[in-house]
Amino acid sequence: MSDQGSSQGNQYPPDPELAKTANVRPEMKDQGLEEFWDNQAKDKISWFEDYDQVLEWNLPYAKWFVGGKLNACYNAVDRHVENGQGDKVALHVVPDDGPDSDQAHDITFAQLQEQVVTFANGLKKLGVGKGVPVGIYMQMIPQAVVAMLACARLGAPHTVVFGGFSGKAVAERCNDLECKVLITQDQALRGGKSADQKTNADEGLDAGPTTVEKVVVVKRTGADIPMSDRDVYLDDLVDGESGDAESCPCEPMESEDLLFLLYTSGSTGKPKGVVHTTGGYLVGVATTHNLVFDVKDDSVYWCAADIGWITGHSYITYGPLVNGCTSVLYEGVPGYPDKEVWWKIVEKYKVSILYTSPTAIRSHMKWGEEHAQAHDLSSIKILGSVGEPINPEVWEWYREYVGGGKAPIMDTWWQTETGHILITPLPGITTMKPGSAQQPFPGVLPEIRDDEGNKLDVEQTGNLVLTAPWPGMMRGLYKDDERFRETYWSKYSDAYFAGDGAKYDADGDIMLMGRLDDVVNVSGHRLSTFEVESALVEHDDVAEAAVAARKDPDTGQAIVAFVSLKGDKQGTEELEQALREQVAQSIGKLARPATVIFAPDLPKTRSGKIMRRLLKNLAEGEELGDTSTLVDPSVVDEMKKQIDG
Ligand code: WTA
Repeated sequence: MSDQGSSQGNQYPPDPELAKTANVRPEMKDQGLEEFWDNQAKDKISWFEDYDQVLEWNLPYAKWFVGGKLNACYNAVDRHVENGQGDKVALHVVPDDGPDSDQAHDITFAQLQEQVVTFANGLKKLGVGKGVPVGIYMQMIPQAVVAMLACARLGAPHTVVFGGFSGKAVAERCNDLECKVLITQDQALRGGKSADQKTNADEGLDAGPTTVEKVVVVKRTGADIPMSDRDVYLDDLVDGESGDAESCPCEPMESEDLLFLLYTSGSTGKPKGVVHTTGGYLVGVATTHNLVFDVKDDSVYWCAADIGWITGHSYITYGPLVNGCTSVLYEGVPGYPDKEVWWKIVEKYKVSILYTSPTAIRSHMKWGEEHAQAHDLSSIKILGSVGEPINPEVWEWYREYVGGGKAPIMDTWWQTETGHILITPLPGITTMKPGSAQQPFPGVLPEIRDDEGNKLDVEQTGNLVLTAPWPGMMRGLYKDDERFRETYWSKYSDAYFAGDGAKYDADGDIMLMGRLDDVVNVSGHRLSTFEVESALVEHDDVAEAAVAARKDPDTGQAIVAFVSLKGDKQGTEELEQALREQVAQSIGKLARPATVIFAPDLPKTRSGKIMRRLLKNLAEGEELGDTSTLVDPSVVDEMKKQIDG
């Protein structure tokens, strides 16, 4: 855990001009929880049928907007067209080679509607409809957003699998949710390199029994790829299908009907299928998007995340579109085709709100501010950060060089499980302190407690909990209620346990201190040490593996793998490479260990438990403390030699 924010550091009072016009009003914090969310639900969402109860709370099970009927796609697309906003740009589509590419184009809300309806009509032919789950394994192309919305239109729950994950990960998730249809693309194009997305998916699906019966393939590069009877190109599927809204009406869904499942890493066992439902989730994402980023009619918003993560679900697809906001959708990565591409995008589209991760900002910082300075970024009004604690010096750089020395930074704390932002500064209200999310959003009640459940005083690190429900909260873990209760609701009988360390600073502001469990946060992406360990032991030479994290200047945390080998196998450089490749194959490249340490055995206590605290200290290069409970302390000396050497 790293100590990020500091109350001794710089403070930035809110801009009085912004305070006058900001959507968020100070008095919102005085409203009761149900009152606040009820007002927002009426203001932000169109209901086919009104709800008759705001909240039904039966800890840990929440139902929000009970009795209401609505459709996510109707809220994100159709109603804007009906309200005369059809010609407004929904998406500025920026391809991998940047905003100057001849493939850059805009999609209006009317065009988005047509694409979604056509796609949905195609899916219907494959038997997709209300309650029929669909897998999506795509990169950052507009059809990914269209696919999500087409599912929502039909009432079909989706599960998006990050496009950089392996085919194995796709197959596991699709099987778990029993998806009959998987939507993917022929090839991925990122950073100028193409990858065989569809073939990757095939490898996963073909490795064992699968529930997937049909694979819909969107053409991105048009490469000649192997197609089987299971596969159909989207173009062929929708050939002759209507794009008229009436040809495929939005399915009326109950507030508590499943909208999507998103799998995320936990500290043990297989990925957790986090359940998100329709009404509360939409109210939560639309409200937070509107108030945190102060979205106006003419805002141009860019969230540089990936739709494969919750940030992409909540703040690329659902939040901004429900708010009728114009967004940039960028396929590429920072640094390609050049180090200025991000700033060219901001300049070309006059981006007024930029939401990204500390990892991305650290890359830009490393390349130097001259790239940002070469472009007119004066359109920027609000900046956002998400995914991990932001180092104060990175915060200062972001504000100075991207925010023109004046844009406020919304350091937003939330999780896949929480669905939307819960802790964040507010524009025009909060005096900002670099490196800390600081304040609960209206209608949200966090607390920092010690292990016994006492609320902590200032400057004492403890556990972050939420003492009341919020609309977008997870409704459970798919098919695993016991794990849901155990992971989030057993530490305290009356509160949600977030798994993050936190403390109050001298003013009572909340400072996030990092994960408490065995989850590694690489470039803002959650990975479980357990999953990486499982991938390592799949290699024939490996007897045992344990994984810990160390701080990394670029990626926040980096993975250090401790590996003991079978018999007389030797830890060579080739083997190290093979192991890193093994993890990349099994999970995805971002899980690849930065360092592999070979040892004759792992440090174990007499009861046979791997001493993880020690591995963390080793990985971080810290003092090792007491090693006397180890069976064989010399194991550690050997490891330390390798790390120091
Ligand atoms: C971390 C991403 C500090 C935290 C939306 C959390 C943060 C985990 C912040 C969730 C922040 C996210 N400051 N830490 N502003 N935002 N985190 O599920 O440890 O991918 O528990 O959701 O990221 O990661 P997830």
